[in-house]
Amino acid sequence: MRLLCALLILLPEAAASRTRRELAPGLYEHGVYDAGGSYCERGDVCCRGRDDGCTVPYLDTICYCDLFCNRTVSDCCPDFWEYCLGIPPPFPKAHGCTRAGHSYPSGATYRENCNLCTCSQDGRWDCEDHACLMDPELINAINSGNFGWRATNYSHFWGMTLDEGIRYRLGTFRPPPTVLNMNELHVPMDSNEVLPRHFDAATKWPGMIHEPLDQGNCAGSWAFSTAAVASDRISIHSMGHMTPALSPQNLLSCDTRNQRGCGGGRLDGAWWYLRRRGVVTDECYPFTSRGSRAPGQPCMMHSRSTGRGKRQATARCPNPRARANDIYQATPAYRLSADEKEIMKELMENGPVQAILEVHEDFFMYESGIYRHTRLAEGKAPRHRRHGTHSVKITGWGEEQMPDGQTQKYWTAANSWGKEWGEKGHFRIARGVNECDVETFVVGVWGRVGAEDVRHGA
Ligand SMILES: *[C@@H]1O[C@H](CO)[C@@H](O)[C@H](O)[C@H]1NC(C)=O
Ligand SMILES: *[C@@H]1O[C@H](CO)[C@@H](O)[C@H](O)[C@H]1NC(C)=O
Repeated sequence: MRLLCALLILLPEAAASRTRRELAPGLYEHGVYDAGGSYCERGDVCCRGRDDGCTVPYLDTICYCDLFCNRTVSDCCPDFWEYCLGIPPPFPKAHGCTRAGHSYPSGATYRENCNLCTCSQDGRWDCEDHACLMDPELINAINSGNFGWRATNYSHFWGMTLDEGIRYRLGTFRPPPTVLNMNELHVPMDSNEVLPRHFDAATKWPGMIHEPLDQGNCAGSWAFSTAAVASDRISIHSMGHMTPALSPQNLLSCDTRNQRGCGGGRLDGAWWYLRRRGVVTDECYPFTSRGSRAPGQPCMMHSRSTGRGKRQATARCPNPRARANDIYQATPAYRLSADEKEIMKELMENGPVQAILEVHEDFFMYESGIYRHTRLAEGKAPRHRRHGTHSVKITGWGEEQMPDGQTQKYWTAANSWGKEWGEKGHFRIARGVNECDVETFVVGVWGRVGAEDVRHGA
């Protein structure tokens, strides 16, 4: 204890010469003395005489543990009398905590972003220490750095922990090695084939590319990305004769073999279901698991075979106002190689493709620009550096001239976090460098379109 005091004397002169009241403004609030807490005790500091260096941190300032306290009660640590002198403090002991000039009883709580703070028995605010999904510090660091993209604070993500974001906003199981090794379909390429510098599926196929949806707190991106890609491709391959927006809920509730609904699922399983069972439209079977952190809702409709591979719904639409309960099916999905050019050619010829994406903490805050995962969280505790597997729909590509003269190539992709997120529900991400695994597992599919459908459409 003596040694500590001796060390504290060495504190800078400047601090000692300032008036003490000024240094500790937080101790009195509206005539109520701070409720207490063990400051001198935790700092193991008590000084026998007057000693302006004899301080410990107190809230966002300091308090004193020296004998001069006895005269200027207001700047002493609340436990000075009891801990250092062994006498009761010269003021009634208050029970409660203060915050922004108000007193609160013990047990009172408030939220600081994703952390709950509780007023403890000894009058301190005890706050949880989770990493938050929206991290103002990280947003500032991204926006003041030169990363090529901007971050923002999304109010619908505010208050969630990063763990909750990973757990409830993604929802694709990483393909197991057997699926990762699935035969790749090579798109025949002329080695010097020139592809356009910009491509946007919605421009090439107007009215056939569906808008991004919002999966809410349902970790079902496996169903959202599959339904999104299948919807676009059925529209394109039927030449616009059919433009169904397929139902993610149908997959979430009914494709239950090895799948976990809003608890995550596999892409190969989703495509198997689309091929063998088929799904109805989103209008017929609307999304009802938005707020659902629970995996399952019972399946409201199945399909049965009507021969020659065609299928029919076994029930009316769950949405009583929707009439058409046609079942849409796809052909077997195929995996593309991770080659940038092959993915581009496939996209341009056959429509949007599905891709897995490894989502890191900074991606949730993406607002605009060309995303690349920053290493900004690397200096922080492990709980601030989290990632999980997601899946999205790639809809185009482009390139942009950077201020330094370099050209940045990117993919454009649709996410499933609503149209308020990112660039109208889309994002751009660096292309050709397998950023966040976006080129690792890319899938295409043909809508099952009968010849007569095409003839009618043409
Ligand atoms: C503190 O001050 C009071 C009166 O102001 C005095 O009675 C008491 O002895 C002092 N205590 C110490 C430890 O100096
Ligand atoms: C982020 O948004 C929430 C909700 O709109 C708001 O309460 C919060 O103060 C914002 N935080 C920052 C750092 O801007």
